[in-house]
Amino acid sequence: MTNEHISVLYEEALDALNIRENLLYIDGTLGAGGHTAGIMERGGRVLAFDWDAEAIDFASKQLIDYGEQVRFAHASYGSMGEVAPQKGFAQVDGILMDLGLSSRQLDNPERGFSFRYDAPLDMRFDMRQTKTAAHLINSWSADELADIFFRYGEERLSRKLARIIVENRPLYTTKELADLIKRVVKLPRGKKKIHPATKIFQALRIAVNGELDELERGLRAAVDLLRPGGRLAIISFHSLEDRIVKHFMRELSDPYYNVPSHVLHVDESHIVLKRITRKPLAPSAAEVAANPRSRSAKLRVAEKIAKKAEDK
Ligand SMILES: C[S@@+](CC[C@H](N)C(=O)[O-])C[C@H]1O[C@@H](n2cnc3c(N)ncnc32)[C@H](O)[C@@H]1O
Repeated sequence: MTNEHISVLYEEALDALNIRENLLYIDGTLGAGGHTAGIMERGGRVLAFDWDAEAIDFASKQLIDYGEQVRFAHASYGSMGEVAPQKGFAQVDGILMDLGLSSRQLDNPERGFSFRYDAPLDMRFDMRQTKTAAHLINSWSADELADIFFRYGEERLSRKLARIIVENRPLYTTKELADLIKRVVKLPRGKKKIHPATKIFQALRIAVNGELDELERGLRAAVDLLRPGGRLAIISFHSLEDRIVKHFMRELSDPYYNVPSHVLHVDESHIVLKRITRKPLAPSAAEVAANPRSRSAKLRVAEKIAKKAEDK
């Protein structure tokens, strides 16, 4: 397996951003730099975030020829509201977030993201953080573990798995954990191809990195940073992320969202987005064939509109 990262929904994401010469863009998830390079090829200037120092190091070398057209921030996209203005990006014309992890991280045995390799249970994006997957597995209570397995892994056997982990710990490696899960989870017929540890590894990664909270923070900050007419494009890879993006875009674009049907007059002051995609865009069959990791990707796009008060 190669660790070259192939940018997902590449043309679709760039088209969605409506890129114009010399305008400012934020790439919240630099990764291997593919989308950032694409934005610059279309003339945009980019502030690129990544929480992983290794990604910044690798991509900044790949993008060296773009010179001052790109700046980098080793920080979470959740903190873009504070960081971007300090880097001269106080108001921007488009923001992209391509969530999750890159092939470089997944295929790097040392990072502990994959059960295909035996590695320490790490799973941090940001190596400055002290909390690792091993910390969670070896110190959280069975109830706490069951809770994240259920909420972030949507795992039916969350309680049973949490109890068995607690009985068998300490566990230090991906293999120890994956083998234990495999002993407990019997997959229904026809689903044999998916390793039973998939959901638990997803849940741990989300919990270690506080991914869903960072996503909520990032989305809120993005809306504040966008100029009217600016576009927000988010690529997600599983239903928990997509649900957050979908609700967020809907809440800020549809005044009747979540309003009981008997209410006739609604407050529209919070409406700052127009949805460009009602249904998310998915990769073509050709893209999925060329890059199987794109298969669960969904792209949602919204545009910032002028606030009512600012219209006057
Ligand atoms: C799917 S990859 C992005 C790939 C990129 N679009 C490309 O074309 O190469 C996701 C990247 O987001 C980074 N990441 C994950 N959570 C983050 C966060 N909260 N803040 C900033 N970067 C994050 C990961 O380290 C990873 O490098």
